[in-house]
Amino acid sequence: MSTAKSEVKRVTVHTLKNMKKKGEKISMLTAYDFSLASVIDAAGIDIILVGDSASNVMAGHETTLPITLDHMIYHAQSVIRGVKRALVVVDLPFGTYQGNSLKALDSAIRIMKESGAHAVKLEGGEEIAESIKRILSAGIPVMGHLGLTPQSIYKFGTYKVRAKEDEEANKLLQDAMLLDDIGCFGVVLEKIPALLSKEVSESIGMPTIGIGGGPHCDGQVLVLHDVIGLTKEFNPRFLRRYLNLYEDIKAATERYINDVKSGDFPNENEQY
Ligand code: KIV
Repeated sequence: MSTAKSEVKRVTVHTLKNMKKKGEKISMLTAYDFSLASVIDAAGIDIILVGDSASNVMAGHETTLPITLDHMIYHAQSVIRGVKRALVVVDLPFGTYQGNSLKALDSAIRIMKESGAHAVKLEGGEEIAESIKRILSAGIPVMGHLGLTPQSIYKFGTYKVRAKEDEEANKLLQDAMLLDDIGCFGVVLEKIPALLSKEVSESIGMPTIGIGGGPHCDGQVLVLHDVIGLTKEFNPRFLRRYLNLYEDIKAATERYINDVKSGDFPNENEQY
């Protein structure tokens, strides 16, 4: 048996709690495959989310609803193979946890056992509390997700900012406090007013991770394919793009096609 220890200090749910206590911001990005997960892990990202946004980004669906548990496990297995340091969180997809806490536990256990991931994320508050409690009772760390919850898109009707009115804002605050009380290790706050994120972040002990939630969250998350400019049509106000890979890859492909067609590739150094 090998006794060699890895040099890398892994991010755990306790690391994140301490980061909030110290006021150190938490960085989180999505990844769905080995190659990109390895790159962002090497760069030092704290949390990698195997998001059900894979349904849009990887599979081309309009919503996150069609992706299955088997698909999520496949993506999570690929990501885990590329990660040495980050905490890997996997979304429970639509239809695998709502309204049935035993099914929720079963889904979470499959993700943990079959992928080797470190935690799961579920969308919703009080209405899914039983499912969250049951998953937590099995020792599986749970992250919540409040505000714009894309699995409920047909209930909302649009992807506009949530919780602008008092009633929805109060429910969100109550839900965040409930998730904190029952033992979630963090919560994503998606597309809600910055001042509400501030109030939530100051009212709970677990870290808040914003996406369109403003600067007062304890951390920030974005979809990696948006950050590196692989997606082209998606331009919400909260998004900051750091690369324009769609155009770069297209230009590189055009040059390659040109080189093949003209006979320039392969040249004498590119053959045996
Ligand atoms: O699936 C996803 O990518 C997410 C993020 C938007 C937080 O849930």
